[in-house]
Amino acid sequence: MADTAKMSIGEKTVELPILKGVDGPDVVDIRKLYAEADVFTYDPGFTSTASCESKITFIDGDAGILLHRGYPIDQLAEKSSFLEVCYLLLHGELPSAAEAEEFEKTITYHTMLHEQFDRFFQGFRRDAHPMAIMVGAVGALSAFYHDSTNVEDPQQRMISSHRLIAKMPTIAARAFKYFRGQPFVHPRNDLSYAENFLRMCFSVPAEDWVPNPVLTRAMDRIFILHADHEQNASTSTVRLAGSSGANPFACIAAGIACLWGPSHGGANEEALNMLKEIGTVDRIPEYVQGVKDRRYRLMGFGHRVYKNYDPRATVMQKTCHEVLAEVGNSDDPLLKVAIELERIALSDPYFIERKLYPNVDFYSGITLRALGFPPEMFTVLFAVARTVGWIAQWKEMIEDPLQKIGRPRQIYTGSPARDYTAISTR
Ligand code: ACO
Repeated sequence: MADTAKMSIGEKTVELPILKGVDGPDVVDIRKLYAEADVFTYDPGFTSTASCESKITFIDGDAGILLHRGYPIDQLAEKSSFLEVCYLLLHGELPSAAEAEEFEKTITYHTMLHEQFDRFFQGFRRDAHPMAIMVGAVGALSAFYHDSTNVEDPQQRMISSHRLIAKMPTIAARAFKYFRGQPFVHPRNDLSYAENFLRMCFSVPAEDWVPNPVLTRAMDRIFILHADHEQNASTSTVRLAGSSGANPFACIAAGIACLWGPSHGGANEEALNMLKEIGTVDRIPEYVQGVKDRRYRLMGFGHRVYKNYDPRATVMQKTCHEVLAEVGNSDDPLLKVAIELERIALSDPYFIERKLYPNVDFYSGITLRALGFPPEMFTVLFAVARTVGWIAQWKEMIEDPLQKIGRPRQIYTGSPARDYTAISTR
């Protein structure tokens, strides 16, 4: 391909550089377009627009590939741990044994919340949705940890990154406990990240949570699968909020708000509801016909970027089987519905022609339910996992010398200029 693209606008021809990444489509650099040709580009939903350069995550949606710092997601999910993936996303390389130990110690050191923070939760209505609590509580971290909010200082950026990764499970577990009407459980630093989180969610004063390596591993793997996904809506929200110099706690709260929407983090709950609605395998053909008649969509299927099997869905399906077997629920009727629905959809021309494959949410609802979480917690768990992706992308943006405040333009379609008229004459 040529190294420049030519764009003709009326009499003018503008030459635009073509940038090449390590992989993925080439990118036409339109930064000078407005100055040279007095036009903007129009791209609602940013379907053809690269908003930044990034070294963190690569997705090839046609081939069904997801790489973090070059490592395939299936290898990370199989062989790594969530904290190791956190280090990888933040620092660019897998840690040495000493670095891994140091990182784990640092994260563990920050797991507690300031005692006054617990009183902050009491301000929410007793049945507040855990995501509503998350948006408020994470934003409030900037008030409690103001000493690490100077975004110009690399050391403070790193401390706030560690604080966010470490404190997010504690906040999420408290949101869950508050929603359930149960007392808070403090973190225990002798446990792993996932184990500590499960214990803070499921221990009660009358009965301690019993560790289970299969369930802990499943939780850790779910965290890995959701750790980052390049410039999705919530990550772009974090970058945009951060581009003004806002502090990282406020930026992550903005990301959580975006994630809450049903088109983004809320889809796994919808997928579970759909499986419940179908109920039994014999009702699948009728349900699939409804999808083809465009009365509703098959939730947990299709993706804006993946036009192939979502590589995270493969791991999630395996994890789902492991968890259900461990909790003695391999005969879960919803799992039977999911397997048969997937089989039918993958062999039906309607889905094949549109390249609709299961996404990560197809099996995650059943898995999280089997782990003991109610649907209200599904997006919260996603937020806990995605925090590292948000913070790594935020840090990369702050450290990028080309970074500017995000400021899109528009096509104005309102009234032309007109004179103000007095109310008596309107
Ligand atoms: N079920 C049935 N048909 C579908 C589905 C689906 N889940 N998804 C897309 N289609 C069809 C559309 O009707 C359209 O058909 P047409 O060309 O005949 O009109 C075609 O496939 C393309 O659909 P678009 O909406 O243009 O695809 P887009 O890339 O914009 O949508 C999205 C992606 C929103 C994820 C969509 O596939 C969807 O709604 N899926 C269900 C919700 C879901 O599972 N979301 C989770 C995404 S993963 C995540 O956020 C972690």
